[in-house]
Amino acid sequence: MTRSSSRRVLLGVSGGIAAYKAPELVRRLRDAGCEVRVVLTAGAQSFVAPLALQAVSGHRVRRDLWDEEAEAGMGHIELARWADDILVAPATAHLIGRLAGGLADDLLTTLILASQARLWLAPAMNRIMWQHPAVQANLATLQARGGRVLGPASGSQACGETGPGRMLEPHELVAALSAAPALLSGQRILMTAGPTREPLDPVRYLGNRSSGRMAYALAAALRDRGAEVVVVSGPVDLPVPAGVRRFEVETASQMLEAVLDRLAGCSAFIGVAAVADYRPETASVDKIKKSGQAMNVRLIPNPDILATVAAHALRPGLVVGFAAETEAVEAAARSKLDAKNLDLIAANRVGSASGFGDVVSSLEVFSRDRRWSLGPAAKTVLADGLADLLAARIAQDAAGGTTT
Ligand code: PMT
Repeated sequence: MTRSSSRRVLLGVSGGIAAYKAPELVRRLRDAGCEVRVVLTAGAQSFVAPLALQAVSGHRVRRDLWDEEAEAGMGHIELARWADDILVAPATAHLIGRLAGGLADDLLTTLILASQARLWLAPAMNRIMWQHPAVQANLATLQARGGRVLGPASGSQACGETGPGRMLEPHELVAALSAAPALLSGQRILMTAGPTREPLDPVRYLGNRSSGRMAYALAAALRDRGAEVVVVSGPVDLPVPAGVRRFEVETASQMLEAVLDRLAGCSAFIGVAAVADYRPETASVDKIKKSGQAMNVRLIPNPDILATVAAHALRPGLVVGFAAETEAVEAAARSKLDAKNLDLIAANRVGSASGFGDVVSSLEVFSRDRRWSLGPAAKTVLADGLADLLAARIAQDAAGGTTT
């Protein structure tokens, strides 16, 4: 197949009523300068005619993994390699489940599994299905692997109900695809993530509850906007988002060293890690034995990574902190903004039942003279909002603005 400089979008259409919008979506993608190929699932063919999509895309529509003629020409692997972006619209609950499970039981799921293209999902389904924990868990799995979810919108549904689950309109999908990658292209962003572990002896450490989810979601959101993202991460049980570079550390001192080694050339630094403020003055070489007596552990302060970066000769143009607070969130966040000489700080309330892990959360973002509220929402959604805010701030700084 011949290569061109235009963006190559493979549109996967699965079997929901919103499939009737696929021809308009193809036309709008082509108007936006994309080359488009279409793959239909078996269910989609009940809602939209392949011939209509062939007419608007200008190419034969693929439907079957076992199509001898097609596999002799541009087979499914070629199609998987051809695409820059794979947009599944509508993405039904069933298709989302099959993708999350890694199934390859038809042409669309097989080529998605065989492709390194950016994956975009435009869910469309009944509102109860959309809110079902199984669907949300499947989407979270796909997002953790780098998939981007567009929508859904809220409104009246084909089933007669009203609520979230409508596919975004074709023009909104095209706008999302066109806008996102360019926003931060050429920007290198360094982040810290997860907890630190400060050893007491070879088997014990002082740690905290950070899972790394907020940081990894933000890394993926920044990557989706075209940034080169480097994450210095404490120990977490999460896969690295595709395209993000991760350097693993354990202690705050190691985290500081790894950050300073990678600071040159960064346009932004974001400290999301929950860094231990103190560490045991000495770590025992051997396992500390139980004596039955009370024991004292002397703690000494750790270096403050964020404050060090903000005061460094190689300070990036944008330095962003996070603040995990259990009370007086705004006052504490603003005081850290000033004390550490930050440009922005994103504050969240934390406690045993909130803030850490896979939870719905909220962020209050403060600059010296403004504030933004994000959420309550899943961390992937908060990350998208924060990434947009940071992208706007970087663009504004590049244009010489000072108001944010
Ligand atoms: O990982 P998750 O389970 O998803 O949870 C996310 C989170 C709650 C950990 C995250 O949203 C968050 O709030 N991260 C910052 C936690 C924190 O350590 O806050 P702090 O108020 O103690 O520190 C303020 C800022 O200074 C932070 O940006 C922190 O990274 C930085 N810091 C703190 C101490 C230190 N020695 N070095 C630092 O760089």
